[in-house]
Amino acid sequence: MALLDVKGITKRFGGLVALNDISFSVEEGELRGLIGPNGAGKSVMFKIIAGFYRPNQGQIVYQGEDITSQGASAVAERGLVRTFQETTLFQEFTVYENILVGCHLHARSNLFTALFRTDKDRQKAVAAKTSEVLEFMGLTDRKDQLALNLPLGSQRALAVAIALAAEPKLLLLDEPFAGMNPEETFQMMDLVRKVQESGVTIILVEHDMKAVMGLCEKLMVLNFGQLLATGSPKEIRSNNRVIEAYLGSA
Ligand SMILES: Nc1ncnc2c1ncn2[C@@H]1O[C@H](COP(=O)(O)OP(=O)(O)OP(=O)(O)O)[C@@H](O)[C@H]1O
Ligand SMILES: [Mg+2]
Repeated sequence: MALLDVKGITKRFGGLVALNDISFSVEEGELRGLIGPNGAGKSVMFKIIAGFYRPNQGQIVYQGEDITSQGASAVAERGLVRTFQETTLFQEFTVYENILVGCHLHARSNLFTALFRTDKDRQKAVAAKTSEVLEFMGLTDRKDQLALNLPLGSQRALAVAIALAAEPKLLLLDEPFAGMNPEETFQMMDLVRKVQESGVTIILVEHDMKAVMGLCEKLMVLNFGQLLATGSPKEIRSNNRVIEAYLGSA
C-alpha cells in the first residue's frame, strides 16, 4: 500500500484550472520531487494534500484512508505536515520558542497529553522534544537568538524544525532552498537527507534544479495544472515536453 494516493485531483479557481485530473502515489520512505514553472500548481497541490483546500474532484488517500474532506488539523494529527512557501516564523520569538510552538501544534496532543499523567510530565516531554529537534537541525547554538536575527539558511532550517516538532510521517516541503546561497543550500540538502533517513517520507517542491535532482530519485513535473512527466532526474532532463515547458516559461 502506498503511503499517499492522489487520485484524479482537479482544482478550479473561477475559470482557472489550477490542477487538472492529477494522480500519483508516493511510497513510504521516498523523497519525491515536484517541480514545474511558476504558477504550475505545485503549492495548490500541497494545500490540497494537507487539507487546506478542498479539490473540486478527486481524492487524497493517506495510509489507506480517504482524508480529502478532513481539514488541515485533522490531517496534521495523522502526521501529514507541510511547511509554507512563505516563511511563517514568529519573528519576535527565539528559535527555542518557535520550536516549542511547533510542539504545541502537535495535533496529536490529545494522545500526547493522555500519555502523561501530569502537566509537568508533559512539559518535560516537550522540552526534551524541543532539544532533540534543535540538535537534529543544527540549531542548538542559536536557540536563544530571535528568529528575525537568523541568516536565511537558519530561518529555513527553523521552519523545517517547527514541522519536525509535530512528528510528521509525511512532510511536504515547499521551496526550502528559496533564496539560499550555495553554502546554505548544501547544508539544507544534508538536513533534508537526514530527515528522510530518520524515517520521514518527503515530497519536495523546489526550483533549485541542482538540489532537487541531487536529492530525489523520482521527480514529477507539473505545468499549467497538468502532470507532464514522472521519472528519474535523467529521464526528466531529457524529456522534450519538460524542456519545452521550461523554455516556454523562460
Ligand atoms: N487562492 C487562490 N485563488 C485563486 N487563484 C489561485 C489561488 N491559489 C493559487 N491560485 C492560482 O493557481 C495557480 C497555481 O498556483 P500555485 O501557487 O500552486 O503555483 P506554484 O506552482 O506553487 O508556483 P510558484 O513556483 O511560483 O510557487 C496560479 O495561477 C495561481 O495564481
Ligand atoms: Mg508555490
